[in-house]
Amino acid sequence: MREVVFDTDRLALCVPCGEDVDALASYWSDPETMRYLSKNGDVWTREQVLERVERGARFCSEHGMTFWTVVEKETGTVIGQGGLVPIAFNGDEIELGYRFGKDHWGKGYATEVAQASAAYGFEKLGLDRIVAVSFPGNTASRNVLTKAGFDELGESALYYEKVLILFEMNKP
Ligand SMILES: CC(C)(COP(=O)(O)OP(=O)(O)OC[C@H]1O[C@@H](n2cnc3c(N)ncnc32)[C@H](O)[C@@H]1OP(=O)(O)O)[C@@H](O)C(=O)NCCC(=O)NCCS
Repeated sequence: MREVVFDTDRLALCVPCGEDVDALASYWSDPETMRYLSKNGDVWTREQVLERVERGARFCSEHGMTFWTVVEKETGTVIGQGGLVPIAFNGDEIELGYRFGKDHWGKGYATEVAQASAAYGFEKLGLDRIVAVSFPGNTASRNVLTKAGFDELGESALYYEKVLILFEMNKP
């Protein structure tokens, strides 16, 4: 039985679990989806996805946040992942992230996840600031962040050994 952490109108954000691996592994094996996600655009094997799901579940039980599994409520379909983690899993700042399988793009789901995760971070986790980073060419993600209410701060070379566009949202 999936453990739902919080939900939105159309989506449930759940603690990652073994049931999620098949769907996620099919999404993260696609080069177009991974283009802006991994360091060199590398795709992930099923083993790598399983390892990340296990690590994500552990992190959630220890810290109350992770990249949760995103489930479409109407169909019960795992559509991707989204949520909050310390940036690069080792920084002081908390980062919003999201990624979905291609079939689930263009439905406003990323914006829904971004807004709900930020609200959860401020209200339930007591955060004061949330950051997000996007590759300059990732127009979709930049639009999502702006639409969700993040402020664009410009280029930053602070994270992931890349020049990325940095966004922030402060506690309302
Ligand atoms: C980036 C991603 C999460 C966007 O998800 P999504 O659910 O399709 O985004 P939304 O439907 O919420 O779109 C939000 C806005 O961005 C715009 N947008 C979406 N895809 C776009 C694209 N490819 N190019 C330009 N704008 C785009 C939408 O038009 C929408 O604005 P609108 O409602 O005014 O039309 C999705 O494409 C994805 O998972 N990509 C691969 C992983 C990734 O890059 N993650 C982000 C890493 S920073």
